[in-house]
Order: sequence, then C-alpha cells, then structure tokens
Amino acid sequence: MEKYYLTTAIDYANAAPHIGHAYEKLAADIIARYQRKSGRDVFFLTGTDEHGSKIEETARLAGRETAEFVDEMVAKFEQAWKSLLISNDRFIRTTDASHQKVVQEVFRKMREKGDIYKGSYEGLYCEGCEDYLRERDLVDGMCANHKRAPKKMKEENYFFALTKYKDPLRKWLAQESVVRPDGRRREVLNQLEDEDFGDLSVSRPVTSLKWGIPVPDDPEHVIYVWIDALTNYITGVGYLDDQETFKKYWPADLHLIGKDIVKFHSIYWPAMLMACDIPLPKLVFGHGFITVEGQKMSKTLGNIIDPIALVDLYGADAIRYFLFAANSFDQDGDFSKADFMNIVNSHLANGLGNLLNRTLTQVQKNFGDKVPNGTVNADCLKLAQEAEVRYHASMQNFEFAKAIEAARSIVDEANKYLNDKQPWSLLKQGKQENNEEKIAQAGEVLLTSLELLKRAAVLLAPVIPTLANKIWDQLGFDGDITDVQFTDPAVVNIIPTGQALRNKGPIFQRLEDPVDPAVPA
Ligand code: MSP
Repeated sequence: MEKYYLTTAIDYANAAPHIGHAYEKLAADIIARYQRKSGRDVFFLTGTDEHGSKIEETARLAGRETAEFVDEMVAKFEQAWKSLLISNDRFIRTTDASHQKVVQEVFRKMREKGDIYKGSYEGLYCEGCEDYLRERDLVDGMCANHKRAPKKMKEENYFFALTKYKDPLRKWLAQESVVRPDGRRREVLNQLEDEDFGDLSVSRPVTSLKWGIPVPDDPEHVIYVWIDALTNYITGVGYLDDQETFKKYWPADLHLIGKDIVKFHSIYWPAMLMACDIPLPKLVFGHGFITVEGQKMSKTLGNIIDPIALVDLYGADAIRYFLFAANSFDQDGDFSKADFMNIVNSHLANGLGNLLNRTLTQVQKNFGDKVPNGTVNADCLKLAQEAEVRYHASMQNFEFAKAIEAARSIVDEANKYLNDKQPWSLLKQGKQENNEEKIAQAGEVLLTSLELLKRAAVLLAPVIPTLANKIWDQLGFDGDITDVQFTDPAVVNIIPTGQALRNKGPIFQRLEDPVDPAVPA
C-alpha cells in the first residue's frame, strides 16, 4: 500500500481555536479522507505549539500557571477537532516528553555538524509571529500582521548557520513541485536573495524566556520556538522512538500550512533537515486566510468565530461543506452567514437532500422499496463518469471547490433527468392504462437517479462524511461510507437490482436563522 503522510501547522495554544484554524484542519481532513478512499495508507498529524514567549506572557497576564493554562487550551482544540469530525491519526503536543527529546537531538545534530555557534542578537522581535523582524518590515512602527510594536532585544543567543544552506535551498526551491501555490514559492526564492538574509538565532536566554526546551548541555538557554515547533513533523511519525514508523512515513507528502508561515516551512525547516541529513518533505502548500464577513478576525472587532459553537448550531457537515464549496483554497476566503445559509440550503437541502427524498419516496411507493430492475441511462452515466474524472483531478490539486462542483454536477444532472422524464407521471399513466412498459420506464429513471446519488455520495464523503453516510445507508448499503474505497465493486458497479432501500426521511433539515451569539449577523 502506498503511504501518504500529511501534517497541518500546529496551533499556538495561547487562545481557543477559531474558524481559521478549523479551516486548515478541515482541509487536511478532506485530503486524508480522500487519500484513504484512494487506497493509501494515510498518516494524518495535527497538534499544538505550546512553548515560546507569546504563551508564557498570555498565561502570566491571565494569572495562570503556564502548564495548566496550555492544558486547558489544548483540550479546547481537541474538542473542536472532534466535533468537526477531524480524523487525525495523532495529536502531538510540543510539551510531550517524546517531542522534547527529539528537539534536543535535532539541536545536537546541528551542533555536531558545526552549524551552531554562539553570538549576540540585537534587533526586533514580534511575539505574535515569534519572529525576528527588520525595521523595513514594520508599518507605522508595528508588526504588519499583529498590529503591535515589536520588542527591542539584545541577547546572547545560539545561531544556526542558515546561510551555509543558501545554495542547496535555491536548488530545492527551483523545483516547482515543492512549494505551492507557485507565487508563494517565488516569494520564498526572493527572500533567499534578500540582502538581509542571514543566520538564524535559535535560542533565547532563560533570563528572558523560561517556557521552552533547554538547549542540550546549556540549561541557561532554551531552544527557539520555531525550531521546536517544526520538529514536530518528525516526532509525529516516530523519529528516535519508532524507526519502523519513521521509515515508513517520512518524508512527509504534504505540509499543509497558512500563507503567513511559508518562510518557516520552506527555508528554515528544509535547512534544519539538511543539517540533520534527513530527507526533505515532498510538498509545502500555503493556503489562503479566512475572513469573517469580509473582515480579519480580531478580539477588538469581537468577530472571532468559535468552531465548537458553530457545530452546535449547524452540525459539522454544513460548515465543512460551505467552507470548501464557497472558497478557493489557495486564495483568501470568507465566512459570511448569509452565504453560508444560502449555499448550504440550496446545495444540501434543495439539491442533494431533495433528490434523495423524492427518488426514495417513489421507489418505496411503487417498487416495494427495492432498487428497480433495468439499465441506467447511458448519457447520465457518462456525464457522471466525466464528473468523476474532473473531481479526482481537482482533489489531487487541492481545488476543493472545483471537486465539490464536479460532484454537484452529478446531483444536478439527476434532478434534471427526473424533471425531464417525470417518473411519477409515467407511473400514474402506467397504472391507469395498465401499461407495464411505462412502469418499467419509470423504474429505469429511478434506478438512474439512485446510481447517480450513490456516485455523488461517494465523491462527497470526504467533505460531508455524516450526510454521505446517511445516503449510503438509505440506498441500502451496509457499513460506513468512510471505509469505502473508490475502486470498490459497490462504487464501480451499478447499484444492484432488488437491493432493499431504507427510506428514513430527509437527511438534511434546512438551516434556519437562530438568534446566534457565535456568528455575527
Ligand atoms: N504555531 C505556529 C505554526 C507552527 S507549525 C510548525 C502558528 N500557529 S497559529 O496558531 O498562529 O496558526 C496555525 C495555522 O492556522 C497556521 O497555518 C495559520 O496560517 C493558520 N491560520 C491562522 N489564522 C487563519 C485564518 N484566519 N484563516 C486560515 N488559516 C489561518 O502559526
């Protein structure tokens, strides 16, 4: 079995998760579910980034003990991912003992390679980014991302000889396949050529930061939080602890991250791996950001959406569906309540749900609740198969909106076909005229609709696992659709004549507009 190892960014545990964090984990989940359906042995890693000055400071301001504070935040992330049906294989915490050991080993290896030296750093540091900034990065004296003034720092640090890896990094980044979208790859290539491109400070003295992993053999310093965090990708698959798992899954097939942290993943991380003689990941993909009603989320605006509250109101599938049907993954996207309601009601309630409902009702009334005999309409089947080809190409290219559109075209086709052929009229006439042929024709129309429904459900299962499984069940298939692969006979062959259906009523209730504190009007 071919393996597929994918990771998400690990979220800072300084606050509860928001819909932007959820967007990334959901995208990774869709990919993981898609790859499993494609027959791959998938390992899906996500987790939390728990060290560094931002977290130490947030806990201090809250009057809390840091370890206890992060435990509380991490529980919220785990709960959110559970309620959104994220199917990760491991949840890693950078405070895990197994991880701390790997980070120290990575530091040691870089030192043995002669790539670590002691120096002093004088400059600016943004705690929001956990990054060193230059004067020219500032807008009105503030960090452009976090809208706050960076701290002036003068410290003794250990440095990593990043500049030594400029040439190999150039060569690696020259391959179009390694960082996507391509615009972000070119951005990183430009950063390499920047006149300020220099070595990287990779530690902080304990006098300024305690909440971190100690530098091996020098307890007066802790390791820089990004060195710590990036290393999670190898800890996650057993580096040091479980050589067999590591050999099986590394290198990662995909590091899925947001556009703001591409530099760390495409310059620092590959350089660290080169220093440790570990193979480089196959792909870093930097997705766009989600805004809320067109605005960046912020505490000041009070527009931060809590994904758990959203699931409580609308269910996981509706949120999963909307985020990826309505936004292009490589670009910035938006969560707007009106669009959310419209799209979900139109696509899931009116489109998919209604198709299932009217097809099953007719079969139940007229064909003993069993799949009718006959042949699936050849044109409809051909259109569905063409849509499947488009779906797979889009999924493999992380174009989720296009993939969903392809699946939806099958639903539209079936709805249109029912409207054109009017099986209910054929049935009425057939019964009145005692015309077996008309009844058989109606049966073929309904059979076609059932087959198209099955195909659409299989394609949509990575996005809306609960709804897709309800369709699968009502069509009379046993087992969970999540465990079904694209090449399984039940998927490839026409739905068997005589299979008992299980009409259990509408699978999706139209969303109504509740008085809703979690989603700004
Ligand atoms: N801890 C670092 C990542 C370390 S990975 C070795 C970090 N954490 S974060 O909590 O700030 O962000 C986690 C992920 O969420 C990042 O990939 C980031 O780009 C993404 N997003 C944060 N806000 C987002 C949106 N509004 N929309 C989409 N993704 C967003 O960076």
